[in-house]
Amino acid sequence: MSVEDLRFVITGAGAGIGAGTALRAASYGASVMVSDTNDENGQAVVKAIRDQGGTAYYQHCDVTEDSQVRALMEAARDHLGGIDVLHNNAGIHESMISEGLSLEDMTRETFERVMAVNVTGPWLCAKHALPHLRESRYASIVNAGSTASLSGYPNCVAYGSSKGAVMQMTKMLAVDLAPDGIRVNCYCPGSIHTKMVDDFMAAAPDPSAMINTMTMTHLIPRLGQPEDVAELVCFLASPEAKFITGVVWLIDGGSLAWRGTLDVLGMESEK
Ligand SMILES: NC(=O)c1ccc[n+]([C@@H]2O[C@H](COP(=O)([O-])OP(=O)(O)OC[C@H]3O[C@@H](n4cnc5c(N)ncnc54)[C@H](O)[C@@H]3O)[C@@H](O)[C@H]2O)c1
Repeated sequence: MSVEDLRFVITGAGAGIGAGTALRAASYGASVMVSDTNDENGQAVVKAIRDQGGTAYYQHCDVTEDSQVRALMEAARDHLGGIDVLHNNAGIHESMISEGLSLEDMTRETFERVMAVNVTGPWLCAKHALPHLRESRYASIVNAGSTASLSGYPNCVAYGSSKGAVMQMTKMLAVDLAPDGIRVNCYCPGSIHTKMVDDFMAAAPDPSAMINTMTMTHLIPRLGQPEDVAELVCFLASPEAKFITGVVWLIDGGSLAWRGTLDVLGMESEK
């Protein structure tokens, strides 16, 4: 994977898919600006990268805070010498911040916080990364969509609305930034085993039934792993993907390729 020498900024890189991508990109020779709101986790990712001989720095950044996003991009310029790849990874699901998930129970504050982190955040990051991306020969933005960008799920009205917006923002930015030679893509994971999915399952009335339901539509009968997504992010960011922009790329174990559950095929999900 030729992301060697590319300079990544990854939001929400203290855990889950962001951390997995930071580690994988660094292992391929990229330098990485790790950012998160959880400083302990973010610094641990930087240490892990450095321990394996890679290059990484940490900067605190809440993607909803204009001044912090600007400072993140400036820190990347100062430490990495510029930005080639903005990975808009940070995101939250309402189940992480609210017990009430139905239309009746969820508060306006919860809905607006999900939209702020998942939609305003990537927009702000793109805005403040732009001057730096313009300086790069290999500039691209990789956004975290979801299968919820495309399909309905229970108890996901804020999350799904936000991820639909991320998908559409990807196409709009791909158009607007084409004259600058900046590619913009988005990937849509199915269920990837991270804290987000753990919290979502824990909020379900029957968590073990929920994990079964989540994997029962995956033709590859397991939860995805952060590393699965990290490989796709590295590919979309790499020069090999130079003719790819504005795409919505599923990485969902095949779940949206059909209308069925594994029992129809005589299969069971792996626990
Ligand atoms: N896990 C899945 O199954 C799945 C599926 C589809 C899409 N996604 C998307 O992938 C992305 C990463 O998800 P994950 O499962 O790794 O989540 P996660 O909860 O494991 O990690 C998210 C990270 O983002 C950080 N974060 C939260 N709010 C932030 C903010 N305001 N500013 C900066 N950082 C913040 C958290 O501290 C955490 O380190 C999200 O955008 C999510 O919507 C995940």
